[in-house]
Amino acid sequence: MARTREDTQSVTVSEAEIAVHWKEEDYYQPSPKFIGQANLTDPGIMERFGLDRFPECFREYADLLTWDQYWHTTLDTGDAPFWKWFVGGRLNACYNCVDRHLAQHKNKAAFIFVPEPEDEPHVPLTYQELYVRVNETAALLRDFAGLRAGDRVTLHLPMTPELPITMLACARLGVIHSVVFGGFSGEACGIRAADSGSKVLVTMDGYYRNGKVLDHKANADIAVATAAKEGQTIDKVLVWRRFRDRSASSTPMVKGRDFLINDLLPKYAGQRVQPVSMDALAPLFLMYTSGTTGRPKGCQHGTGGYLAYVAATSKYIQDIHPTDVYWCFADIGWITGHSYIVYGPLALAATGVLYEGVPAYPDAGRPWRIAERLDVNIFHTSPTTVRMLRKLGPEEPRKYHYHFKTMTTVGEPIEPEAWKWYHSVVGKGEAVITDTWWQTENGGFLCSTKPALDPMKPGSAGPGMPGIHPVIYDEEGREIPRGSQKAGNICIRNPWPGIMQTIWGDRDRYVKTYYAKYNKNPKSTDWRDWPYFAGDGALQAADGYFRILGRVDDVINVAGHRLGTKELESACLTVPEVAEAAVVPVQDDLKGRVPEVYVSLKPGVAAGKEVKDKVVHAIETTIGKIARPKDVRIVPDMPKTRSGKIMRRVLAAISNTMETGDVTTLANPDVVEQIRELVQGKGKVATKAGPEDIKRFGDER
Ligand code: WT7
Repeated sequence: MARTREDTQSVTVSEAEIAVHWKEEDYYQPSPKFIGQANLTDPGIMERFGLDRFPECFREYADLLTWDQYWHTTLDTGDAPFWKWFVGGRLNACYNCVDRHLAQHKNKAAFIFVPEPEDEPHVPLTYQELYVRVNETAALLRDFAGLRAGDRVTLHLPMTPELPITMLACARLGVIHSVVFGGFSGEACGIRAADSGSKVLVTMDGYYRNGKVLDHKANADIAVATAAKEGQTIDKVLVWRRFRDRSASSTPMVKGRDFLINDLLPKYAGQRVQPVSMDALAPLFLMYTSGTTGRPKGCQHGTGGYLAYVAATSKYIQDIHPTDVYWCFADIGWITGHSYIVYGPLALAATGVLYEGVPAYPDAGRPWRIAERLDVNIFHTSPTTVRMLRKLGPEEPRKYHYHFKTMTTVGEPIEPEAWKWYHSVVGKGEAVITDTWWQTENGGFLCSTKPALDPMKPGSAGPGMPGIHPVIYDEEGREIPRGSQKAGNICIRNPWPGIMQTIWGDRDRYVKTYYAKYNKNPKSTDWRDWPYFAGDGALQAADGYFRILGRVDDVINVAGHRLGTKELESACLTVPEVAEAAVVPVQDDLKGRVPEVYVSLKPGVAAGKEVKDKVVHAIETTIGKIARPKDVRIVPDMPKTRSGKIMRRVLAAISNTMETGDVTTLANPDVVEQIRELVQGKGKVATKAGPEDIKRFGDER
């Protein structure tokens, strides 16, 4: 990550600029009514979780769980930075999320499934019902699919009850689930299934999205073929049915490989499967996320630490009580859904809403109708959804009689304007907002206000969570003090129970990606030597609140979902006409950032719509529709350094009408002007200001 002197200086300049433009917002206070019922009202918590009490402070979190065997060592750092939490402990995650609630809550809804079509009835699933269905599914996975503790299985499922049921069935057996977001293409699913070494793929025939039934089974065939190309045989595809009485897919079943779960289940009716007592350190699941290089990385989360962390943060930050009705509007196929739809809320015996479809189907009033009817009082979504619902129906929430006590936002920075609409209109001025900053790798929240204890500040995630000690370093590892109005790289000084254990099958990449930057002694077993590098730019205000600025690597955050630009670029290169490809982020009013593609063509190939369409198609089939570019620009050549590197930062500046800076040292400076004209037309004036992540984009290549 060597930077030239010029690079470092230009970053310093832009940091100062942020300071000038950064306006402090006023605080908002939680209401006395909220404080009166909150789970966390003890201001002593920060002291209790001070660094001098680390790591034993986290016992308090683990004590929220039911252990088969209590642990003997809270944190073992002997193999740093591979942290081992609650060593010696044994537990089962499914038992903690289901069985242990039966005595008190068996007739209470664990989930209320809301199908996308508004005329399909809601389906409540009580804890008892969940228990029965999880057991039967576990029996099937064990006895029919032959799955055992430690095996990996890939789940490519939509937002229906079958997804958490299958996850919990895996957890019951100690089988490691790897859920791939349902909107990812079959190819993307196959790559991930191969990396995890899954022999079994669980899918569904189809599901509703935006008023249409999608044939999802078709993706499974592609996934199996892709995995085979990668050297991984998937010998069983288990298919859930979306409808009781008909198939949602016209894709044929492959004999001897594909099996309808709904046909097999009657054989396991009434069966009970003893939850397998797992080591606290046993992996619970893999969750793939995009990184700087082409291959997605499988973040491996363990059982004890992860579950303790998500249970505690659900309780203290989301303020979930068993009597609440909680709705997290994420997809379970992302980490937010794992931690804050499935594991955290269920560990607390919550009632959660599980909504199948898109937010504004059939209109922008839908979410608020659901909230009113089910009396949802905790709401959790992303800034993209907030912006979209605001654009489509700014007055809609006022028409419905629901009351939220807390609302969470996650996934991207939320601009103060959107925050204020969320607060005053969606939250009716009553709800507390928690802006939670964290990542797939982290298991749970890292920065957020504590809803009854800290005032809110629009646009700021807030202070570190109890026991999480963030720090901002400059490129050289010098601490940037709070209130200095300078940005840097946000890191966490200490490990915490929710941190991933490793990247599946790639220990080196784990160390390199998250720790190498600021570790000075690779042999050290002292956690103080291993600050966690998050890959986000941030600054800390004088009050200790962190404002997150966005990624500092080659990752684009589209609507709160991470896309690796390398992955997109390799997809473009599968189009035979394309010689070179570069992908850059563009600011977008709704989605935060969207990718824009630049391609140069092979000699003799004519530029035209056909090639552009091919590029879009290649991206949609290798990754999915979420990665669809805003535009494909065919350029005569890429701007390059003398050593031949594509200057993505220059392209990003052009796409965002920002100044490109000095390009005279490039190998082909003239092409920059040509591309600018092509993209912006003649006479457009570049503005100097621009978001930090875009300014820094491509720096590290
Ligand atoms: C990246 C992680 C785990 C949440 C879902 C996304 C960005 C996340 C915030 C926030 C500003 C945020 C960061 C982070 N991000 N939450 N509250 N404010 N930025 O998980 O796909 O792993 O992405 O999302 O850039 O690094 P993910």
